[in-house]
Amino acid sequence: MEDGRTVQQFSSVLDQPVSSGSSGSEAGLRVHVKWVTVALIGVLILGVSVWLLTVFLCSQHAETARATSLCQSPACLSASVRLQSFVNSSGTCGTPSRSLAASRWQVTWENNLRLMSALLENPNYTAPLSSAEEKAKRFYRACMDQNRVIELGAKPIQEVIDKLGGWSLAGVWKPTDFNKTLQTIMREYNTFPFFSVYIDPDPLNSSENRIQIDQPEFQMSTQLNSNDLMTKVEALRLYLRYTMSLLLLLGIEANSTSIPTAPLIIFASQLSSAAAGLEDRRQQGRLYQRMSIAELQAAAPAIDWLGCLQATFHPLQLSESEPVLVHNLAYLTNMSRYINMLTPGGDVNSYMILSVLHTLSPSLDPRFTEARRNLSQQLGEKTEVMTPRWRKCVTETIMAFESVLDAMFVRKAFSKEKRDMAAEMISDLKSTLQTKLVNVEWLDEEARSTALMKISSLAIKLGHPASTLDRTGQDQLYSEFSVSEELYFHNTLQYLKFANKQMVSRLKREARKDDWLISPLSVNVDHTIRFHDLVFPAGLFQEPFFHVDYPSAVNFGGIGTVIANEFLQTLYKTIGVSQRFLLKIAECSQLQELNYSQTLQEDWNRNGALYISLQAYKSWLSRKHFDSKLPSLANLSNTDLFYISYTQVICGSVRDPHGQVNRGVVNPRILQGFSCPPDSPTNPSERCSLWA
Ligand SMILES: *[C@@H]1O[C@H](CO)[C@@H](O)[C@H](O)[C@H]1NC(C)=O
Ligand SMILES: *[C@@H]1O[C@H](CO)[C@@H](O)[C@H](O)[C@H]1NC(C)=O
Ligand SMILES: *[C@@H]1O[C@H](CO)[C@@H](O)[C@H](O)[C@H]1NC(C)=O
Ligand SMILES: *[C@@H]1O[C@H](CO)[C@@H](O)[C@H](O)[C@H]1NC(C)=O
Ligand SMILES: *[C@@H]1O[C@H](CO)[C@@H](O)[C@H](O)[C@H]1NC(C)=O
Ligand SMILES: *[C@@H]1O[C@H](CO)[C@@H](O)[C@H](O)[C@H]1NC(C)=O
Ligand SMILES: *[C@@H]1O[C@H](CO)[C@@H](O)[C@H](O)[C@H]1NC(C)=O
Ligand SMILES: *[C@@H]1O[C@H](CO)[C@@H](O)[C@H](O)[C@H]1NC(C)=O
Ligand SMILES: *[C@@H]1O[C@H](CO)[C@@H](O)[C@H](O)[C@H]1NC(C)=O
Repeated sequence: MEDGRTVQQFSSVLDQPVSSGSSGSEAGLRVHVKWVTVALIGVLILGVSVWLLTVFLCSQHAETARATSLCQSPACLSASVRLQSFVNSSGTCGTPSRSLAASRWQVTWENNLRLMSALLENPNYTAPLSSAEEKAKRFYRACMDQNRVIELGAKPIQEVIDKLGGWSLAGVWKPTDFNKTLQTIMREYNTFPFFSVYIDPDPLNSSENRIQIDQPEFQMSTQLNSNDLMTKVEALRLYLRYTMSLLLLLGIEANSTSIPTAPLIIFASQLSSAAAGLEDRRQQGRLYQRMSIAELQAAAPAIDWLGCLQATFHPLQLSESEPVLVHNLAYLTNMSRYINMLTPGGDVNSYMILSVLHTLSPSLDPRFTEARRNLSQQLGEKTEVMTPRWRKCVTETIMAFESVLDAMFVRKAFSKEKRDMAAEMISDLKSTLQTKLVNVEWLDEEARSTALMKISSLAIKLGHPASTLDRTGQDQLYSEFSVSEELYFHNTLQYLKFANKQMVSRLKREARKDDWLISPLSVNVDHTIRFHDLVFPAGLFQEPFFHVDYPSAVNFGGIGTVIANEFLQTLYKTIGVSQRFLLKIAECSQLQELNYSQTLQEDWNRNGALYISLQAYKSWLSRKHFDSKLPSLANLSNTDLFYISYTQVICGSVRDPHGQVNRGVVNPRILQGFSCPPDSPTNPSERCSLWA
């Protein structure tokens, strides 16, 4: 209510000049009329005009004052409808709002994708286009031309298969050198049938990039690994049927009795059962084993490791002493054995071609994707609704032309005004947190100074790295990427080569601190502890989290709480969880006994984020004296508008899967107003925030 009063006082101050101004002129007028002479008529006319003008100007002024207090821009109108309908549904954040299905994060991401699709489709976008932008748009158009893709059918993939010497399953096949073929598909098609290869910073020295070798991703590991024989047999049968349907799509009348598929299927099953889950591997210390290529060669001799890695990382020179990080040596050893157990030639060829098909089928005739979907469905896996074409194409264009699309996005949706507002918000949030840290009693002095140090030394990255807007750099980067207007498949092959080259260039230089691990377009927050930074990408500062037109109450309740939450997470990672912290939570929660858990910590982070963002908003408001309003919620106080914005962000969120908004205290008044079910034992009063 406090803020409601502030605004009322402020608008009545605005009203005053209007009334006193007009009545002053009126009084003056009456005096003139009383003593009037003809000679003074001119003066009278002048007086009237001045009066009229004054009244007119003053009422204009009043109008503008009212108009600015009520934000009527399209963004505000849509926020107004959104929040009003949320209030109408009496803000139930448990079950009903979960039926909205999409979280705010998903909504924001979806909005960003739609914006990108509009930019890629719009023929008028910032002419003249850079050559890389031109290519990105062509890439997207070729993808959208689904008729052309269907018309070509299996022809493009058939050409690839022919180049690789044919497919033994299809009966048309000439024996090729296993190691050579493997090198080709790794280099040309970025396909890794038996193991995966990538470049990442060395966990022991984060400024050094290293070759890392891991088990591959399998198409159906869960079922093939089942201990239940029936499940396993059924999975094998379905896998066989899938293979047959691929052959059929390639125009080969499949007859499973005449085609020798058994060894292939057994091999696939052996490989996937040799793999292990990440957690198992971590526990068994199988992650990050450092060895030289020569040592790896001795452990898994079926593969020509130096040759394969050399081909993949061409033109880089590698030697047998090059260190690599191996993530599952036991798998690699068994994989090597299984390859050697196959009859040389046919079966291992079949498996490799199947992998290539898997990599390339998304850019083929949609029937190939459909066959894969059918397999997933039959296996009882969760299949998502068919992705609309535009979405598939935007996503793939983002993958292939990431930096170009980042730049297009930033230019369109991250104006300087927006950046400045975001920076101001972040700085308000940060200094609020710092003030709180100085004062809260549940931190001991050592933790307090660690925490303060952490927050002040945190490098905050906002929007995008400077390199995003470097058009010349992008044109150079894509100079060899040729994009066909009508052959989407060709474009995909170009992309795979490009992706490979990108990987090579990462190995060549050391990992850099100014590398952003997330795209400016994305809606994730990244806190890379090892670089001591906190990254808020431009993609996050979009509706419905944020808009430059929104009342600040809506922005602080939305993106503000998201940012504050990230600060707190970083903080807790640094200072850990102290006994005093737990006691304070226990006291707050009025629980006799408190079991510390991840969920509990998340609840309290969220709660802290709410209070910090609210405090930051209040200090923003005391500096600016004024915040605008949304038309449908104009009679709410600023604080209530903040709460509604917050509640909606959290309620409609998959990050609050149990409707636990108030597990760690929300303003009880707002909870009553919006019937968020109070979680009784943990619905304490307002004094119970760590940060209140
Ligand atoms: C909210 O409810 C009011 C009154 O029932 C109705 O007039 C209004 O259209 C509703 N607004 C929204 C956005 O649902
Ligand atoms: C592109 O510009 C033309 C001419 O200014 C205009 O008529 C057309 O509507 C614009 N198209 C889009 C998609 O904005
Ligand atoms: C980490 O890698 C960098 C770059 O190769 C190197 O200069 C540095 O000495 C390495 N640090 C350690 C501790 O090995
Ligand atoms: C499959 O091939 C076998 C042996 O070549 C033949 O006997 C059988 O009739 C064929 N089945 C079909 C459905 O073509
Ligand atoms: C690898 O093969 C050996 C021998 O058959 C077996 O004992 C071991 O469990 C296998 N390892 C994995 C990870 O499958
Ligand atoms: C591939 O090359 C390795 C290393 O030279 C060799 O040991 C292996 O036998 C080769 N594999 C096949 C199937 O030729
Ligand atoms: C996928 O399954 C549907 C329904 O069972 C079937 O009609 C369709 O032909 C299958 N598609 C492919 C490509 O196998
Ligand atoms: C805490 O954990 C203990 C043992 O796991 C359990 O008995 C107790 O009910 C838990 N308490 C709460 C409040 O969840
Ligand atoms: C806002 O005003 C409307 C209409 O005057 C009223 O029905 C509603 O209860 C008010 N809302 C609040 C939160 O005061």
